[in-house]
Amino acid sequence: METIHTIEWMKQIARENRVHERVLGLVPTMGALHEGHFSLIGAAQRECAPVVVSLFVNPKQFGPAEDLNKYPRTLEADRAALEALGVDYLFAPSAQEMYPPGFRSAVVVEGLSDRLEGRSRPGHFRGVTTVVLKLFEIVQPRFAYFGRKDAQQARLIRQMSADLNLDTDVVVCPIVREADGLALSSRNVYLSGEDRRAAATLSRSLAAVRDEIAKGERDTGRLLDALRRALATEPRVALDYAEIVDNESLEPVASLRGTCYVLLAAKVSETRLIDNALIEPDGDSFCVTL
Ligand code: PAJ
Repeated sequence: METIHTIEWMKQIARENRVHERVLGLVPTMGALHEGHFSLIGAAQRECAPVVVSLFVNPKQFGPAEDLNKYPRTLEADRAALEALGVDYLFAPSAQEMYPPGFRSAVVVEGLSDRLEGRSRPGHFRGVTTVVLKLFEIVQPRFAYFGRKDAQQARLIRQMSADLNLDTDVVVCPIVREADGLALSSRNVYLSGEDRRAAATLSRSLAAVRDEIAKGERDTGRLLDALRRALATEPRVALDYAEIVDNESLEPVASLRGTCYVLLAAKVSETRLIDNALIEPDGDSFCVTL
């Protein structure tokens, strides 16, 4: 595996791959890699060669009161893991390289970026879409892989790629979970013993929605009541938002129709976590995937 720190060098490699018509796959990450990231890399390796993993803790997507400084940084362990997986290139630019003095531009996907996560974290998605467009321009991937764990992020990036006629197709991969249902996240290292146990309530509350749907409930108000009841069993968990939204518009739906997400964000003590389930029509019923 080759580790690349400069944009110029990464662009040179991207150009060579285009000349040779290779199907380049990109997996953008902020490092502190776990099985969720590895699943995206596996998907990329099945469909692309070469595979580039980018590792950049993007300051522009963290709010002033957020965890940029304490975000886990495990570059050497990450590099060893990527090497063992047979990744071709690790692109790990510095903040100075990505945002030199005088940097002024931004990409905003209007509407989709100010709801849900965007309402709780103003400016977050502006930072995400800006860095992802830069990564797409630098790496020129044919396919880029994202996790459904960040469903709103994946929806925005797909919209950006379509709106700006990018030559990159966005592939969205399933959520990888721990045995007790907790979605893997780089932020899970913040969870102490008791908080770690309590964090499993998030996916249990999504499972409660799935159970109500299986019993025939279609009213999203009542489905979200079931979700809140499940979360309320755990005093360490404070809900930020829970919504059932159309998968395209991300607007709330009153009763289940078409493909939807149930999206939630909650704090477990001081750690903010997000999770979701995908709800898809399945004959007369719905199939719910955590
Ligand atoms: P990061 O949180 O490192 O996540 C990188 C990718 O891994 C994202 O697409 C995310 O959805 C996916 N991922 C995280 N946990 C997952 C899980 N449990 N199962 C499946 N996929 C999972 O998301 C970001 O970084 C950044 O916003 C980034 C896109 C890199 C832009 O800075």
